[in-house]
Amino acid sequence: MRPNGPLSGSVRIGGAKNSVLKILAATLMAQGDYRLVNVPHIADVETMCDLLVSMGVDVVRDGESLVVHRGSDIVPEAPYELVERMRASVVVLGPLLASFGWAKVSMPGGDDFGSRPIDDHLLGLEQLGAEFELSHGDIEGRAPRGLTGSRILFEVPSVTATETVLMAAVRAKGQTTIENAAREPEIADLAAFLNRMGARIIGAGTSTIEVEGVDELTAIEHEVIGDRIEAATFLAAVGVAGGEIEIEGARADHMDMLIHKLGDMGLRISSTSSGLWASASRRLRSVDIATLPYPGIATDYKPLLVALLAVADGVGIVTENLYGANRFRYINELIRMGADIRTEGHHAVVRGVSRLSGARVKAADLRAGAALVLAGLVADGETVVDEAFHIERGYDDLAGKLRQLGADVQRLRD
Ligand code: EPU
Repeated sequence: MRPNGPLSGSVRIGGAKNSVLKILAATLMAQGDYRLVNVPHIADVETMCDLLVSMGVDVVRDGESLVVHRGSDIVPEAPYELVERMRASVVVLGPLLASFGWAKVSMPGGDDFGSRPIDDHLLGLEQLGAEFELSHGDIEGRAPRGLTGSRILFEVPSVTATETVLMAAVRAKGQTTIENAAREPEIADLAAFLNRMGARIIGAGTSTIEVEGVDELTAIEHEVIGDRIEAATFLAAVGVAGGEIEIEGARADHMDMLIHKLGDMGLRISSTSSGLWASASRRLRSVDIATLPYPGIATDYKPLLVALLAVADGVGIVTENLYGANRFRYINELIRMGADIRTEGHHAVVRGVSRLSGARVKAADLRAGAALVLAGLVADGETVVDEAFHIERGYDDLAGKLRQLGADVQRLRD
């Protein structure tokens, strides 16, 4: 990739990764044929499909849709190879236990963000009556008498723990109340999918979710919401490179706080009938940023924002409130490109420089990889991002879409 002039044109975002992965898991809950529309071509979706197929589900790609046939013969087990490839695989635990009364799921290990426990998933399911045993690296869950509704109060608003308990509660007997639930739009999308299947969920997208258990669910068709993090990536791209672009399929109401923050930095953003319009005519101003659960600034936006601050005018302090300092690892790569950033525990102090310098850098994870690509747009000379396969876990042809906006970016072979 080479340095760029201003971007222009229009780009379409795909369906939300963190929505479709859970919706795919939820198809385990009722037999029949599903059609999921607006499903991105990304590696994490492939992994979830491989997991469903390993359990006995048929999944066929049809353009931007997936046709899922869930028959009667299901093996409720998620093996190590697939959970190790993608820790979000653990979201099958709730649907499997609720539907089959037994499930075996490999325990996810640490990852590039450091320790990410699933104790809240298990505690929540235990409160619905499940019992767990950990042996040989697998979690074996049992609910021989079925699950029973309960009041669950999460210590932290975890996205996947909320989704795990939500899916299980749909088939539990009686009423479940989930308090301090995570509020991400992807959770509301999962609940919309489940309600269309016949579930009775109220309040998804707020911190209190009420679920009335039902006996029967049916297979349906559903269109997945747009990926707000992919949309944020293009907003950040126009922020670093300048120009004027349209992002089709993006929804301002899913990214209020971020739009506000980018507005403070000097990026102009408006809603259009089909998405968002954004324009940056001069160098952006630095701001301070703290990540928080939704509706706060998502931790997934942070690498993109650090790339923006790296070339903004002034000093910005970035505070990571969800994960440990491991989520700052990409910063060393930005420093190799000439960024002036100091980290101290959960904080990063980013002193903007006017131009970066192209270098060979390495993507540590999906969002970090995207941030390095953005940095390459304002770096003199050539930037090569190694281990770009991380980016493909969550982006469908990031290089191609940036090229559509006039950027000079190529995907090289691994
Ligand atoms: N936490 C616990 N105990 C638990 C679960 C979580 O203490 O049992 C803590 C975590 O340590 C963390 C906080 O709760 O401090 C939030 O973590 P959360 O559980 O919400 O993360 P997650 O559900 O594992 C999802 C997204 C991530 C995104 C986070 C935070 C999916 C598949 N993943 O992960 O997205 O960063 O929420 O918003 O939905 C990505 O898209 O690349 C990605 C990593």
